Amino acid sequence: ATTATTAQTLSTMAVGAENMGNVKRQLVQLFEVSLQATVPSETDVAPLVDACIAKSGVRFGDYQCNNAMGLWSKIKGKQTEFRGPTAVGQAIMKNLPPSDMVESCSVAGPGFVNVVLSRNWIAKSLQKMLIDGIDTWAPCLPVKRAVVDFSSPNIAKEMHVGHLRSTIIGDTLARMLEFSHVEVLRRNHVGDWGTQFGMLIEFLFEKFPNPEDVNEAAIGDLQTFYKASKARFDSDPEFKQRAQQAVVRLQGGEDTYHRAWKQICEISRTEFHRVYERLGIQLEEKGESFYSPYIPGVLEELNKKGIIEDDKGARVIFVQDVNIPLIVVKSDGGYNYASTDLAALRYRINEEKAEWIIYLTDVGQQQHFDMLFKAAKRAGWLPADDGSYPKATHVGFGLVLGEDGKRFRTRSTEVVRLVDLLDEAKNRSKTALLERDTAKEWPEEEVEKTSQAIGYGAVKYADLKNNKQTNYTFNFDQMLNDKGNTAVYLLYAHARICSIIRKSGKDIEEVKRNAKIALDHEDERALGLHLIQFSEVIEEACTNLLPNVLCEYLYNLSEIFTKKFYSNCQVVGSPEESSRLLLCEATATVMRKCFHLLGIVPVYKI
Ligand code: ARG
Repeated sequence: ATTATTAQTLSTMAVGAENMGNVKRQLVQLFEVSLQATVPSETDVAPLVDACIAKSGVRFGDYQCNNAMGLWSKIKGKQTEFRGPTAVGQAIMKNLPPSDMVESCSVAGPGFVNVVLSRNWIAKSLQKMLIDGIDTWAPCLPVKRAVVDFSSPNIAKEMHVGHLRSTIIGDTLARMLEFSHVEVLRRNHVGDWGTQFGMLIEFLFEKFPNPEDVNEAAIGDLQTFYKASKARFDSDPEFKQRAQQAVVRLQGGEDTYHRAWKQICEISRTEFHRVYERLGIQLEEKGESFYSPYIPGVLEELNKKGIIEDDKGARVIFVQDVNIPLIVVKSDGGYNYASTDLAALRYRINEEKAEWIIYLTDVGQQQHFDMLFKAAKRAGWLPADDGSYPKATHVGFGLVLGEDGKRFRTRSTEVVRLVDLLDEAKNRSKTALLERDTAKEWPEEEVEKTSQAIGYGAVKYADLKNNKQTNYTFNFDQMLNDKGNTAVYLLYAHARICSIIRKSGKDIEEVKRNAKIALDHEDERALGLHLIQFSEVIEEACTNLLPNVLCEYLYNLSEIFTKKFYSNCQVVGSPEESSRLLLCEATATVMRKCFHLLGIVPVYKI
């Protein structure tokens, strides 16, 4: 039986849900009423409402509804009282139900309805958030449980910058979904199964006849160990044969083999954890080996459904619009990456009841996932329509490049040890920090904590701010620059806001209770408007799985605060001090939530 639920699109589901932080959704609800009143004959017209972007500074409103032209082309042939799109726009405007969120409306061009939000309403929304907490601005998504399959390095092989990207982007997506009330199963799909383990185990037996002697220190670098065993495998036919038997004995569950396998996995795991620890990553390992017992049953099911065919000795699944098949049993009878992924997908849908399954790997694996999902659709595990649930999405990202434009490598070695990379980022930010006079007097522990926050934050942000599809160039100088669109700049901006509040000498909790926010100055209003758009930005970033949307929002927030508000509106000592302190506090609160969602630890002083 298929587990597909009925088609529910994000837009229809979440409307009406308890999410009063989302300005756009509230306007959509108003326009829904108005559109129905304007053209009762046209049902199912979804309001097209968007925030206005100030192009060359001119802007007629804060939000715009763009339904008039589309509606006009639908009704113009029929009997209608309207004489053109502008008239339709005017009627849409007239039929808007009264609301205290709207200050004024106007119609521009061929029927665009512009909405100016009420200052008072913006101020009230901010005040409410300050009192009830920013979690009340969390979006509501139409999914209860999701799997995010990320990081997923391979045992005994290099954990490379590609895995770092997967780790960073995956963690952020998981955080954004969790904030939006989705239960996220954070899955580390480590490559801990496969024929290479025969070779590794035999090599381990040879080097350490006594299993007690096996430990990380003795083995040293697992990648070197891997290379040495591979060389042995390629040069000695007798060893090769033993290695091949070892795979069979391992997969047959023989004790000594299983123990050796576990030892090798454990050593890799220790190395992976050094990276996760630095980056504050929570993950639950369910590696390839976990799914291996499920493979025969899953293939049996697909076989019965008549989906699997013979192809040159292998067992394969053909899918739509791809000219090569998905190989699920190799010609030697062995299972592969795809067989494991089929079993894992089935498990995630059926056992774990995930409604959204998200995979993060580099774009090189796009075709694999495309075929996997299409096979799952043929099997009826996933609905054919991509708008329905359960849903599987592959988030592919580009390569990490070095400054030479080639695949990223460090100077000295072939491989980049991620731990070294992260430590270098931290050490560089420590050096920069200690050049500042203020930090010189800090206790060592604080210097350390701050440089970690800045260094690791910089690595994460440099990755996240890119559109994930594109390749990105790894450059320490750029990411650690305190000017420009970097984590350093943003963390400093946040710290500066905190110090404004501190310098006022006021207890901000008391101000929250006793003062009111007013947005009389143009730049106060601009800041307030940007702040209340937080919820819809997160919703967009979640729905389209785009962390860079959040980065852009955060950067703009910091720019509006610094270049507009703080340059033109005196805070401490002004008659508007209390209100402006609340605006500072609201900005810092939203910034901190952004940092949290991006996996960056905020800094409070610099
Ligand atoms: N271990 C794989 C690699 O390093 C990534 C696994 C991604 N997840 C999956 N379910 N296939 O390329």
